[in-house]
Amino acid sequence: MNDVLRIFCAQPVEIGGELTPPSDKSITIRALILGALADGSTVVRNPLNALDTRSALLAMQLLGAGVYEREHDWTIIGGELHSPSGALDLGNSGTALRLLTGALAARSGVEVVLTGDTSLHSRPLGRIVDPLREMGADIEYLENEGRAPVRVRGKRLKGFRYELPVPSAQVKSALLLAGLGAEGTVEIIERTASRDHTERMLPAFSVSLEIDEGDGRRVLKVRGGEKPKCAEVVVPGDISAAFIWIVLGLLLSGEGLSIRDVGLNPTRLGALRVLDSAGARIVVQQEGAHGLEPFGIIAVHPSRLRRFRVDSGEIPSLIDEIPLLALAATQAEGESVIEGAAELKVKESDRLRTTAETLVAFGAQVELIDDVMRVSGPQRLHPAAVECAGDHRIAMLALACAMLAGGQSEIKGFSSADISYPGLVADADRLLTGAELAQGG
Ligand code: S3P
Repeated sequence: MNDVLRIFCAQPVEIGGELTPPSDKSITIRALILGALADGSTVVRNPLNALDTRSALLAMQLLGAGVYEREHDWTIIGGELHSPSGALDLGNSGTALRLLTGALAARSGVEVVLTGDTSLHSRPLGRIVDPLREMGADIEYLENEGRAPVRVRGKRLKGFRYELPVPSAQVKSALLLAGLGAEGTVEIIERTASRDHTERMLPAFSVSLEIDEGDGRRVLKVRGGEKPKCAEVVVPGDISAAFIWIVLGLLLSGEGLSIRDVGLNPTRLGALRVLDSAGARIVVQQEGAHGLEPFGIIAVHPSRLRRFRVDSGEIPSLIDEIPLLALAATQAEGESVIEGAAELKVKESDRLRTTAETLVAFGAQVELIDDVMRVSGPQRLHPAAVECAGDHRIAMLALACAMLAGGQSEIKGFSSADISYPGLVADADRLLTGAELAQGG
């Protein structure tokens, strides 16, 4: 088992070179689910091949979709789903669990138990199940109220109008997918924008989605009975996986970095906007779009950062980047504040706490009061032995801390990085000089 990463830095670590990050997790999972719902043969080009997306892929197969894997594309033959003989284990993937709960609740004739690992069982599902029940869904909690595992008995749902109480792309997407199998229209009102990959992907599957914007809100309308048709989806690189290199490219010395083929969906770029306000030298160049998803190159140059502030309205656009933004704050001049990030408490770990604990273990001073994190900088980090709470984003944070700290560090449970970034150590070996990484038992 490759569960401990030992890091030896004999000299200050430097960074430089070019990188294509792993493919986008959110887009891959959406393409797999829509591919299974759609009639015909959907090709997902350049999918993310990691633990979360493999959990989703296997679930599609067990639901009766044809699944054909080649190195750079996965084909899903969808349309005819049936009840699987056993439970669908979605591992650690909150996106797969929540989107599938919505999609299958509206699938008449399909009965399924959705389950996952201990972390997934601890994450709130009521935010999906409550509105789905308003639409008439038949969903039963099998162990704890508001948590997976659940039994979903698919049936025809009713349309409804729903204002999202939490800005969550997973909730929004689950309801849009449920809306495909509803009688009437599902109307979702969003006051704070969250990632809009589902909205951008639905037209590729021949589903028309109406979007009205104005008065500080977006209203999304999907008409029931629209049967998705197969599509080709090309997945760009994942900005959230690339973010470890963006932060290290700014904070370590060296020639800087060029990150290619990375997704540039504006609803995912909040952390770049924050770093820009802090004086980061980052150049973003859009090169094209895969369907409605823009992609391009991000060039990063070593920079001196000033303090920055993240307010609650910006959180959804940088939700997965907060651990590494907090690390950037330890190296920025002055006191940085990240506010309103309570959603992080219900991620793969209580990520506000695990972020603060990881930074503190590496010698940083961090103040965390409820959902407000304050970090003064610049601070000198020291090497540490840490554990990553089974959380892939904490594994990436710990690796980045170790690079800045120098000396010898140890990260236990590092294999959780495989949830979204299986090639992380290989990329680190290529981009960093002065650090030796050894993964072992
Ligand atoms: C995701 C949405 C976000 C994000 C998660 C992936 C998605 O969660 O944190 O990693 O693919 O829709 P929420 O929408 O629950 O904030």
